[in-house]
Amino acid sequence: MSSENIQAALPSLEIDQKVARQIEDFELPEKLGFGQVMAPVMYRARFREGVWQSSELLPYGPISIDPAAKVLHYSQEIFEGLKAYRYSNGTVALFRPLENWCRFNRSAERMCMPAIPEAIFMEGVSAVSAFMADHIPTSPGQSLYLRPFMIGVDADLGLAASVNNDFYIIASPSEAYQQGSFKVVIERRDCRAAQGGTGSVKVGGNYAAALAAGRRVHSAGYDQSLWLDPSEHRYIEELSGMNVFALINGVLHTPELSGSILPGITRDSVMNLAKQVGLTVVERRIDIDDLLATIESGDCTEVFACGTAAVITPVSVLADANGTRYELGDQNPIASQLHTLLTGIQEGRHDDVFGWNWPIEDMFSFDKGASTYSGKA
Ligand SMILES: Cc1ncc(COP(=O)(O)O)c(C=O)c1O
Repeated sequence: MSSENIQAALPSLEIDQKVARQIEDFELPEKLGFGQVMAPVMYRARFREGVWQSSELLPYGPISIDPAAKVLHYSQEIFEGLKAYRYSNGTVALFRPLENWCRFNRSAERMCMPAIPEAIFMEGVSAVSAFMADHIPTSPGQSLYLRPFMIGVDADLGLAASVNNDFYIIASPSEAYQQGSFKVVIERRDCRAAQGGTGSVKVGGNYAAALAAGRRVHSAGYDQSLWLDPSEHRYIEELSGMNVFALINGVLHTPELSGSILPGITRDSVMNLAKQVGLTVVERRIDIDDLLATIESGDCTEVFACGTAAVITPVSVLADANGTRYELGDQNPIASQLHTLLTGIQEGRHDDVFGWNWPIEDMFSFDKGASTYSGKA
């Protein structure tokens, strides 16, 4: 898709002249990792005194921010993570972007920030994906990871919501987050999010609060913390950036949304796919000690994590604080079946029976000459 086509489809988007050149000069490195290589372009829309200003596509680079900005002192920040895939026929499609838009606005409401109009969110994710189309990697598990975020920029130290906010979208051509399986430690001490807190939305502070546990986990040679509920430290919640499932006696169990768990879009997709292949899915409170007992007895045969970044990744070991290790083995037929189904849809190889994929060409509505995204037919 040429820069002229994108500009014709999105006439209200101000495209910096340096963008086309930056994209032309960009080369995908051989080794990508996850979130390590940044796309040379970014999207910005500013909210000033109650009004969204015109949006811009800019070369990727440092942003200037006042040292007194609210985000730097009171963490008024929200974000999202979604992926664009390039199919073998060249089509570029986003996976369930409206779900991310809705969740972004739930985060905005919780953090006292302005809702972002659908047209701006969709224009931004489509424009960045369209400009990067030729640089979206296409091997299995690879995609363009998009990171929309919003920050409060009012420059005073008063403890109050920022009136002015900046919305950005940056992107990263990436591989899946984890190759292989996760070794997980049950976090019996800290908690990630409290009832009535911000765990059910996507705000930067949640992740900062998880860093100390993450460091302990890594220094012990493990990959992830498994968070328990904040009041009793008894029921499993999620990993720091993923939801969790357990296969017990052939039934798929996942923690019910407790108010402190992020409602993952992949979690929802997995539940739909599991039901489609005839599995029973149960959302309930899962007592960690019961789960460990079912692993020991052999009733629980698989535990896996899921999220946009990790897709579906098996858990091979659950370690308790007292050092006991519960091994799950490396046979994960259900996780692997669900992974095949999910990535088959995401990467355009299988029929998209759920209507989850959003080809960006459709969103630009070139035929209609629409100036902004106007909704999927
Ligand atoms: C805390 C947390 N839980 C779960 C998820 C999985 O959500 P999704 O599947 O929408 O990526 C994420 C990632 O966004 C997360 O940060």
